[in-house]
Amino acid sequence: MLKLGVNIDHIATLREARYRGLASGEPDPTLAAQVCVAAGAHGITAHLREDRRHILDRDVFLIRSKIQCRLNLEMANVPAIVDVALKLKPDIVCLVPERRQELTTEGGLDVAGSEEALTRTCQKMAQAGIEVSLFIDPDPRQIEASRRVGAQFVELHTGRFASHFDDSTVCAAVLKELAAGAQLAHELGLKVNAGHGLNYSNVPTLLEVPHLVELNIGHAIVSRAVFCGLGHAVGEMLELMKPYKGPKAPAEGQGEP
Ligand code: PXP
Repeated sequence: MLKLGVNIDHIATLREARYRGLASGEPDPTLAAQVCVAAGAHGITAHLREDRRHILDRDVFLIRSKIQCRLNLEMANVPAIVDVALKLKPDIVCLVPERRQELTTEGGLDVAGSEEALTRTCQKMAQAGIEVSLFIDPDPRQIEASRRVGAQFVELHTGRFASHFDDSTVCAAVLKELAAGAQLAHELGLKVNAGHGLNYSNVPTLLEVPHLVELNIGHAIVSRAVFCGLGHAVGEMLELMKPYKGPKAPAEGQGEP
């Protein structure tokens, strides 16, 4: 079954718009996480950014202590945040590139260009019992490097797929790259997640990508929640993901002899 991790950063974005610097405020990301899990989400994802623009340290520690589900901490590979992760002990960390000026995570991680630093972090996380996922473009160089540095997962960046969704030619080409990337990662022993820009229109098409374990989705679910409630928005996304079949069976005549 394809799993859903709900990214709750935007709940905290809304709280910080009004209550920045205060000890509490609404909406509460921990309550949001509880609602997502009650609605069937398999995991909660939160990005603890270096500038703490939305999710705060207290949020991730509260979620960790109150919610019995898989916690995925998105983070940059920098010492201060690595220290927080080692104290928090999420089930998994997803290492992402991070630039302060960006609105959201804009590109994949250059794993091939920072193998030494990533290997050290993967080792630290392994010693603490935390799995590591690397947020990358579906580029064979980055996938092979992800294997070498010791990650267990890659999260394939679906931003280009999402932003070209209305252009069927480009979208088909990007989808092919994602499928080939997932296949290569699988063959190398990596588990495959996907995320960024996924929504209620494009998820059914993304289901063509083989070997997916989990989708991480934030903006679209929180946006829909404004109109129909968070539990309902999570339920609708889970319904869309139900038909996922995993690896495609080879077409007749193309299987192994
Ligand atoms: N996965 C990763 C690694 C991300 O950085 C983000 C955005 O924070 C998401 C998934 C969720 O993206 P979206 O909010 O566009 O669904």
